[in-house]
Amino acid sequence: MAFSRSSMLAVAATTLAIGASASLEVCTNDSTFSCQSSSTTATCCFNYPGGALLQTQFWDTDPSTGPSDSWTIHGLWPDNCDGTYQSSCDSTRAYTNISDILTAQGRTDLLTYMQEYWVDIDGDDESFWAHEWGKHGTCINTIEPSCYTSYTAQEEVGDYFEKVVDLFKGLDTYTALSNAGITPDSSKTYTLSEIQAALTSLHDGASVYLGCSSGSLNQVWYFFNVAGNAIDGEYQAVDTLTTSGCPSTGIKYVPK
Ligand SMILES: *[C@@H]1O[C@H](CO)[C@@H](O)[C@H](O)[C@H]1NC(C)=O
Ligand SMILES: *[C@@H]1O[C@H](CO)[C@@H](O)[C@H](O)[C@H]1NC(C)=O
Repeated sequence: MAFSRSSMLAVAATTLAIGASASLEVCTNDSTFSCQSSSTTATCCFNYPGGALLQTQFWDTDPSTGPSDSWTIHGLWPDNCDGTYQSSCDSTRAYTNISDILTAQGRTDLLTYMQEYWVDIDGDDESFWAHEWGKHGTCINTIEPSCYTSYTAQEEVGDYFEKVVDLFKGLDTYTALSNAGITPDSSKTYTLSEIQAALTSLHDGASVYLGCSSGSLNQVWYFFNVAGNAIDGEYQAVDTLTTSGCPSTGIKYVPK
């Protein structure tokens, strides 16, 4: 009895998770990787013009945000395969009620995770999430409402936040650095090449963008090309399109 009850719960949970993007158009397995084709036609299975998708992260120390042993989420940004990007692509979908949308979609575990790992430096998470969605999320052409076969209100918003969190969970910057002996320290400094090597290794051999503020490491961007749509498609790590903004030596990694 107990066994069948928990099986039913497991089945229900699985259905809910799959249901999240079940109505997004299915892309064939031979979809071309974005930024790697001469095609200039945006379709529901080809990210264009924003063909590079960047999972961006922060290491905030002034003030500190998030767990002391984890980087935090900045967002998922489409880039035009060349370091330039579109922004704020659809004001009619620039929602400011992200928490309500996720709650109405039953994505409360996602929301709880975001409250810990996708936090605003000024403590205004709701505005930060709305900003990321409105500025960047609305520019991802493969998740426009017209790409869904039985679209429900704001479905693409929940799909976007869930995808960003999934990507972030696979890009544990803190642990990758720590495994390379690069740990937060109030006096020690590191070189750009040793930090780059540790994160390139995490990112399937592709270089990353590193950002610094006053000589202290505070940002990393992981670049991907995608075959298919931004939710169900295949993500391939690619080299950074943007030159790192850190000095080559003497980089601080300040404890939170
Ligand atoms: C996609 O195609 C490749 C090569 O033909 C195959 O190995 C892979 O299993 C396919 N993936 C899916 C999800 O069908
Ligand atoms: C979120 O805001 C939009 C736009 O104002 C509205 O249409 C939608 O019903 C709201 N969603 C929830 C769950 O409150």
